[in-house]
Amino acid sequence: MKFFVDSADIDAITELHDIGLCDGVTTNPSIIAKSGRDFKEVIKEICAITPGHVSAEVVAMDAAKMVEEGRHLRKIADNVCVKLPLTKDGLKACSILSREGVPTNVTLCFSANQALLAAKCGATYISPFIGRLDDLALDGMELIQDIRTIYDNYGFETEILAASIRNINHAKDCALVGADVMTAPPKVIFQMAGHALTDKGLSAFMKDWESTGQSVI
Ligand code: G3P
Repeated sequence: MKFFVDSADIDAITELHDIGLCDGVTTNPSIIAKSGRDFKEVIKEICAITPGHVSAEVVAMDAAKMVEEGRHLRKIADNVCVKLPLTKDGLKACSILSREGVPTNVTLCFSANQALLAAKCGATYISPFIGRLDDLALDGMELIQDIRTIYDNYGFETEILAASIRNINHAKDCALVGADVMTAPPKVIFQMAGHALTDKGLSAFMKDWESTGQSVI
């Protein structure tokens, strides 16, 4: 499973990249607003950190303008992936850009039928939002499973990019049901490394080692 970082935090992206846990980055207009930075400038900076896809979202509502914005965003760097909303216009823009060889990420997906349409339109990635479904007491993971089945039934190559990952159980469950990619905030990815028994075991090992008076080097 690929790990994308759902953030515009340069330090966190760099740290995760250096550890080996950043295969790409996703952003959205809310993440850019939160960063307080210039959109194109921050995307350019992120694209220089990772060779993986960096999703940058269009903000137009009609297909022609989305395509124009998408082409413009692609000029920032070769690894920019154009993020489009799952609307009729977003799907149309996805078809046009996909035919031009532009990588696309169709976002705000909340149903298996939406995901089926995105695959038909040649999306590189489909982004189902797990956490936002769970917020409504719906089953985000069931959606990932349904999309997996549909894509496998027909050999669609669109990658399932599980988004709106809020906790480490979401991450584990996405891996279990076969999401191709998950995008999570840095905090969640770092939390995946933690376990109370790891900390407890390590501190016992260190204490016992100290008692031997030896050194490794
Ligand atoms: O990639 C989409 C993701 O950022 C949405 O997450 O937590 O705002 O639902 P959230």
